[in-house]
Amino acid sequence: MTVNFILNGDDIVVRTAPERRLIDILRDDFGLLAAKPGCRAGLCGACTVFLDGHLVNACLVPAFRLGGREVITLEGFSQTDEYTDIAHGFSQSGLDTCGFCDAGKILSAEALLARNLRPSKEEALAAFRGVRCACTDPDSLAAAVLAAADIRRRRLYGRG
Ligand code: FES
Ligand code: FES
Repeated sequence: MTVNFILNGDDIVVRTAPERRLIDILRDDFGLLAAKPGCRAGLCGACTVFLDGHLVNACLVPAFRLGGREVITLEGFSQTDEYTDIAHGFSQSGLDTCGFCDAGKILSAEALLARNLRPSKEEALAAFRGVRCACTDPDSLAAAVLAAADIRRRRLYGRG
């Protein structure tokens, strides 16, 4: 089949088997490697992307569901000011990770901050429920996203 969709702001056309998964299209056809094939079963979050603004596991999205939709990967998101807020928050809080599930961690952080710029610790912890990060503990992740929220508030409103 031929499928048209928007990928990181570009209109694209792909010829593919309808059941082929988005993660394979991203990695094999476009060299977008930030979404990682961890479990390929919707369990680890390492393959997270935004699909029409919602977090999804790219390992679960077949090509036939992509028509007319908008996909943003970590590579696309990393071009934004919002990404910079999160990267600085993570680094400021001393988060030191292997990077394997950065797509899940960073896009999950953005999904939270896009709707709540003053999250509680519990809300921060809940934001990462879909990500099984083997090298970060939940409390450190929550602290990192709270630091990113503070940076975002200062950028947008000039105060924390
Ligand atoms: S590879 Fe998709 S959720 Fe684990
Ligand atoms: S960054 Fe999540 S497994 Fe290492």
